[in-house]
Amino acid sequence: MKTLYFVANWKSNKTIQEAITWLQKISNLKSQISNLEESEIIVCPSFTLLPSMKAFLEEHQLPIKLGVQDVSPFEEGAYTGAINTKQAKEFVTHAIIGHSERRRLFHETDEDVIAKIKQVLAAEITPILCISDIAQLDHYLTESTTLVDNAEKIIFVYEPPGAISGGGAYRAEDPETANQNAGEIRKKIGKQVITIYGGSVNPDNRDALFGQEYIQGGLVGQASLDAETFIKLITNS
Ligand code: PGA
Repeated sequence: MKTLYFVANWKSNKTIQEAITWLQKISNLKSQISNLEESEIIVCPSFTLLPSMKAFLEEHQLPIKLGVQDVSPFEEGAYTGAINTKQAKEFVTHAIIGHSERRRLFHETDEDVIAKIKQVLAAEITPILCISDIAQLDHYLTESTTLVDNAEKIIFVYEPPGAISGGGAYRAEDPETANQNAGEIRKKIGKQVITIYGGSVNPDNRDALFGQEYIQGGLVGQASLDAETFIKLITNS
């Protein structure tokens, strides 16, 4: 059985109280997720929620890891507004890097993405690298050997921007095409890397997607915000 990775990308949602309520609901169903073999659950909330969530997870011994949705491309220092990997590392084990919303809305470049990957790897945080299409991966690979050199330490997400729900209707890419593209990422990297899929993953389409050879889980936005829906997604109930 392959390990399934469930990465919840909460984006710019939830207050501390809402995050704790979400965790309490998950905690009530702890037995369901504790029995899950071969799966890894990583929740990526806003920075402001991390201290309270970390404390809750430790207190209730939930099998959930934390990640950030972005990180500074620089080390600590005079970089107003930036949160660096040393700071993130106090709370998280994972970091989403290069999400298409960061690229489109916050003008993140290929160079930024590579610099962030380097920072994250140096801090021994696992990068969850979003790839919108194969051409973008080619750019990263031309830019730097970091991805190939560290491929085993990276979770690669194939996430076509057009498939992201944006909070609205779900329109995931068809599973065969998603699988082909995830497979293409492995081929380009030339190693047996972890590849997951993102974009409108929900409890109804998870089987069709996760049943594919190269799709080892999902980066989940909208369907992760509601605790019951997320539990349904990960437990396949
Ligand atoms: P979605 O978002 O599941 O709401 O489509 C996924 C993402 O953007 O990471």
